[in-house]
Amino acid sequence: MSAIFDALRRWPDVEAPDLVAVDAADRLILDESASLRATAVPGDIAVINDAYGALTLGAAEDGASGIRTHIDAITGERALTTNAARAGLTGHFRPLPLDAGLVRGARIVLLRLPRTRDALRDIAGLIAAHADPAVVVVAGGRLKHMSVSMNAVLSEHFGPLDISHARQKSRVLIARAPRDGRDPVPAAARVEGLEVRAYGGAFAGAKLDIGTRLLLQNLPGAPAGGTPSDPLIDLACGTGIIGARMATKFGGAHVYACDQSAIAVASARATMRANGLEERVTVARDDMLGARPSASASFITLNPPFHSAAAVTDLLAPRMFADVARVLRPGGQLWCVWNSGLRYRPLLERAIGPTEQVARNTKFTVTVSTRR
Ligand SMILES: C[S@@+](CC[C@H](N)C(=O)[O-])C[C@H]1O[C@@H](n2cnc3c(N)ncnc32)[C@H](O)[C@@H]1O
Repeated sequence: MSAIFDALRRWPDVEAPDLVAVDAADRLILDESASLRATAVPGDIAVINDAYGALTLGAAEDGASGIRTHIDAITGERALTTNAARAGLTGHFRPLPLDAGLVRGARIVLLRLPRTRDALRDIAGLIAAHADPAVVVVAGGRLKHMSVSMNAVLSEHFGPLDISHARQKSRVLIARAPRDGRDPVPAAARVEGLEVRAYGGAFAGAKLDIGTRLLLQNLPGAPAGGTPSDPLIDLACGTGIIGARMATKFGGAHVYACDQSAIAVASARATMRANGLEERVTVARDDMLGARPSASASFITLNPPFHSAAAVTDLLAPRMFADVARVLRPGGQLWCVWNSGLRYRPLLERAIGPTEQVARNTKFTVTVSTRR
């Protein structure tokens, strides 16, 4: 197994010496599930929240086939595809959405614990509703990302948990005896006149982030674009709250909202439906603006991410600014909100063009950058 792990890459996600594609928690999940997997037949195994393919390809390397696998981030899903091709393991798995088909009848689930309890609750309920009654869930993570409240969430849908010894700052929880299954239902709230929907794990949940609030308060009166061929773009849309606000504030405007996270996209679609905006707002799962033509857009909003899988990194925003620069037409604008400590202004100036401060409070800064 170590040979495929040595070759595992995060690409097309950001890569850096301190950002790994496989870690001790992946190895522990595989080790703790090895004896179970040894008796698996094709179709028995589902993998949820693999980062870049370590769990899926580790199981495939040990002989499993018909693995059903779900990765929330499209960059992680694409990394799995290329890592599998390099390892000659392409035919051993199928990427699937996080729904009943992923876990129906599964007898072994390898789960990389998500960052939030709400996301874990959605996953645990789904497994309990649709997996084989004899399913064993081997759920692991890094100790620094785990809390005892995760045990409580798993206990809402399973019998007593077995808990592994910690190894290399990682731990595994083993859940059996599923009960009280339910399909994920998004959290719902009315926020400043908008209906917001959020599946577990969506940024800020069904609430308005304070940085996003500052951006919304300072949007311009009448942005250029908003036509079907030049929609207003809500890049990295999360629950779609910015896109929904633009579609209601600028009556008749067409909006394109995109995010690489499947949870975000499902949430944003639910938000648009709840506000009756699905005719004018297209929601897409994409890595940055990959599907948008170069020099085509007049108006883009962005509250940039800082998480790549479980890691916090400052490499994501510059990568996004470069793609925004590609997609904006000359004179087009990026309206961006960022934590004032991050000093994004020189990066925005360099990547996009002249950048002015529109608003600032104790924590956040809103800027407008005009494509040169
Ligand atoms: C700070 S949140 C902002 C969400 C939303 N716009 C808001 O203000 O509430 C950043 C978002 O970026 C998304 N993201 C991270 N990497 C991405 C990528 N490569 N392409 C598109 N979206 C990405 C995350 O999934 C997350 O939803």
